[in-house]
Amino acid sequence: MSTRQREPLIFEQSVPGKRGMDLPPLDVPPPRDTRAAHLRRRDFGILPSVSEVDVIRHFTRMSHWNYGVDDGIYPLGSCTMKHNPRLNEKAAALPGFTDCHPMAPDELAQGNLELIYTLQEWLKEITGLPGITLQPSAGAAGELTGVMLIRAYHVSRGAARRIILIPDSAHGTNPATAAMAGYEVLEVASGPDGTISFTDLDEGGKTRRGLNSLLAEFGPEVAGLMVTNPNTLGVFEQAIQEVADALHAVGALMYMDGANMNALVGVARPGDFGVDVMHLNLHKTFSTPHGGGGPGSGPVACSAALEPFLPVPVVRRDTRRVGEGEVETHTYRWDWDRPKSIGKVHTYHGNFGMLVRALAYCLSHGADGLKQATLRAIVNANYIRARLSGTYHLPIQSPTLHEVVFSDTRQAAHDVHTLDIAKRLIDCGFHPPTVYFPLIVPGAIMIEPTESESKAELDAFCEAMLTIAREAETDPELLHQAPTTAPLRRLDETTAARRPVLRWRSPETT
Ligand SMILES: Cc1ncc(COP(=O)(O)O)c(C=O)c1O
Repeated sequence: MSTRQREPLIFEQSVPGKRGMDLPPLDVPPPRDTRAAHLRRRDFGILPSVSEVDVIRHFTRMSHWNYGVDDGIYPLGSCTMKHNPRLNEKAAALPGFTDCHPMAPDELAQGNLELIYTLQEWLKEITGLPGITLQPSAGAAGELTGVMLIRAYHVSRGAARRIILIPDSAHGTNPATAAMAGYEVLEVASGPDGTISFTDLDEGGKTRRGLNSLLAEFGPEVAGLMVTNPNTLGVFEQAIQEVADALHAVGALMYMDGANMNALVGVARPGDFGVDVMHLNLHKTFSTPHGGGGPGSGPVACSAALEPFLPVPVVRRDTRRVGEGEVETHTYRWDWDRPKSIGKVHTYHGNFGMLVRALAYCLSHGADGLKQATLRAIVNANYIRARLSGTYHLPIQSPTLHEVVFSDTRQAAHDVHTLDIAKRLIDCGFHPPTVYFPLIVPGAIMIEPTESESKAELDAFCEAMLTIAREAETDPELLHQAPTTAPLRRLDETTAARRPVLRWRSPETT
C-alpha cells in the first residue's frame, strides 16, 4: 500500500511544457482540420503535460490502492468473483481468434464458428435447455433478451399479457428488466425459510401476496415469473417444480435468473425442473473477468417452444459423411433465415473473447471438474456459515448453497452496523462482502467465497470477521472511524451514487 494519502489527479500533476516524448519536427504541411465545430473537443489542448516517469508512477500508485481477485478473497455475494485462470487468457489471445474479422465469410471463420457451436453445446447440456444464444453482453442484457422471448411467445399465441411476477428476494435487475420490457411487476412474498410463498402472508396486519392468490386473480394476464435460483439468500427454491407447474397451468412461463449457477453446474439442470428460459453469466460462473476487467457475456438458454424467437443469426452445423469409411465431417454457418426472431441484441456475435475464455474453462475442467467446482463453492460458503454463525446473526436457517447472508442484529446492540463492519474489513486487508442486500434482510452482510479460496484464506477472512465482532463489543468507536488505513476514509456514498463526477473538467471549460 502506498503511504501517500492523497494522490493528485494526473491533470493536477500537469506542468506546462513537460513531455513524455519528443517527436521530430513536422516536415509536411500541417493537416487541415475538417471536423465540424460540434465534433471538436473544446478541451483537447489541455491534456496533461507530464513525463513518462510521472505517468508510470501515478498509475502504479493508483493500482496499489485497488483490490481485485488477484489480491485475495473477494467475497462480494451475488457477484461471484472467482479466479480468472490464465489459461483462458492465453486461449483468448491466440491470433486466430483475435485477428478474425466478425464479418469474415463463414468459409474463412470455420474454427471460430465451431468454437461458438461447441460452447453452445456445453451450455445446453449444463442448463438442460435445447435453444441458446450467446449474443447478450451481460446478465441484465440476457434478462431483457429472455423476457423479449417470453413476450414474442405470447404475442405469437395472440395475447401479449401484461404482468411479470417477481419474488421479493429477486436481484434488482429482474424488476428493472421486466419494467423495461413494458411489463407491470407484481411482487411475490418469500416465506420465513427465504423461498417463494404459495400462500398469502400476514405481516403486522399487512398482507403480502403469495403465488397462489396472485395466479388465481391475474392468471391469464401473467406472462411469466422471474426467479433467481438459488435466490439472493443463497437458498435453493425447493418447490421450484411446483412453481413451474402453477405457472404453466395458467399459460405463463418461468424465467430463471441463472447468475447464481455456480451453485448448480453439474449438479442440477434448470431445464429439468421446469425452467423455460434463463441466462448465464459467463463473467461469473464461467470465470471470465468482469467488473473493471469486463466486458461480460450473458447467454440465454430456452425451451424448444421459445427457440424460434432467439436473436439472429444462429450458428448451424451441417454434417456429411465422406470417404470409404464414411467419416463424419462438419461445416458451420450462420443461419439468418429466422422469420420469428426478436432480431439482434448485440453487434456481430456477442463478446467473442469471453466465449473463448468460457469454453477454455469448460474444457480445462471437464464435466467432472465443473461439478467439483460447484461442490467446493458450496462447501466454502458453508464453512464460513459454520465459523461465523455463532457470532453473527443468521436470519435464514435454510441450507446454504454458494453464498451465506448474515445480518448486523447482534452488533447493532453496540451501535455497530453493517457499514462499520464492511469498512473495518478494509483495515484488515480484505474486500468487504456485499452489504445491505438482499433488501429483505435488514443490515444484510452477504458473503460468497467461491471455490477459488483455500482453507487458509477462508480462515484468515473468518478471523478478521470474528476480531471485528469482538471490537464491536469493546471499542465500537474504532469501527465508526474505519477505514483508518485506507488512502481515503469514509466517503459520501449517497452523493457519489446520486451525483457521480466521472469526468475531469478543465477549470477553463467549467
Ligand atoms: C442474481 C443476479 N442477477 C443478475 C445480475 C446482473 O448481471 P450483470 O451484472 O452481468 O448485468 C446479477 C449481477 O450482480 C446478479 O447477481
